[in-house]
Amino acid sequence: MRDRFGREINYLRLSVTDLCNLRCLYCMPEEGIPKKEHAAMLTEDEMIRAVEAAASLGITKLRITGGEPLVKKNILSICGRAAAVPGIREVCMTTNGIRLPELAVPLREAGVKRLNISLDTLDPEKYARITRCGKLTDALAGIRAALEAGYDKIKLNAVLIGGFNDDEIEALASLTLRYPLDMRFIELMPMGENGFGKEAYLPYTAVLDRLPELEPTGEEGGAAKLYRLPGCLGNVGLISPIGAHFCGSCNRLRLTADGKLKPCLHSSAEYPIKGLDREGMAEAMKEAILGKPEWHGALDYANRSQSQRSMNRIGG
Ligand code: 5AD
Ligand code: SF4
Repeated sequence: MRDRFGREINYLRLSVTDLCNLRCLYCMPEEGIPKKEHAAMLTEDEMIRAVEAAASLGITKLRITGGEPLVKKNILSICGRAAAVPGIREVCMTTNGIRLPELAVPLREAGVKRLNISLDTLDPEKYARITRCGKLTDALAGIRAALEAGYDKIKLNAVLIGGFNDDEIEALASLTLRYPLDMRFIELMPMGENGFGKEAYLPYTAVLDRLPELEPTGEEGGAAKLYRLPGCLGNVGLISPIGAHFCGSCNRLRLTADGKLKPCLHSSAEYPIKGLDREGMAEAMKEAILGKPEWHGALDYANRSQSQRSMNRIGG
């Protein structure tokens, strides 16, 4: 359905858990998050009911997110059932890749067609630092498993952080010369107290400055502007939630693992659907879609996101 600004909302991002096996600095508080009472979280049946309600309103694309979706025990069942909901044409997932060595094949068989995998650095020591506990070799093994499992599309996501990985822009982008995947750079968003100073917030144009040989593809890449390196196998995508926000073409609705619809990533507005039947969920979704703001307002180091949640509790 369309919102008040004429945007066709056809994309639901469903966070299936706020738990994660990593602790990325920009996403999670160090101590992790208090495990929510089980009863407050959506059940698998409620998640599927929500996907059915969304499909009844014209949602065709579903992204499963977290926290880390692959730490959820029943993830294969959730994905398989969601992919079978009439009207849902595509199920995608955003993951840190750590569990993909075991799960890339069964996930593909369950009907997940595309994967976005987080990879902020190619340096093992920096990977351990940004994730607070992760091993780069695990993430790379996950990416390899995904490449072998025959996904329609694999995208790697790096959050661009001044003083941390801006010296790796070339190295990360050149993965597209060797592998059939897209490498996307995402501007760091000022969510909560993430401990990053002003210098960490680089505009996406820093990538173009570093890589003058990037050529625009002229294609639409959703939220990303797409570029190519000469001789590449995949695109370089630049995502600018801050410098050149894409609110005008925003087509998404979010549902958190504790059953709150979020019309906008950066707003504190939430519409609860836990415990509702399918019609009730569809009604709440209509309200949330009509409650979508025109844009998220100025965001920068000083004007922080109004969302009261850290990213792991929203779903990226
Ligand atoms: N800024 C930008 N992107 C973020 N993500 C999480 N937190 C932030 C943030 N503060 C994105 C990253 C990560 C995915 C799970 O969510 O792309 O890979
Ligand atoms: Fe986990 Fe992803 Fe958050 Fe990192 S960004 S802590 S991998 S949910």
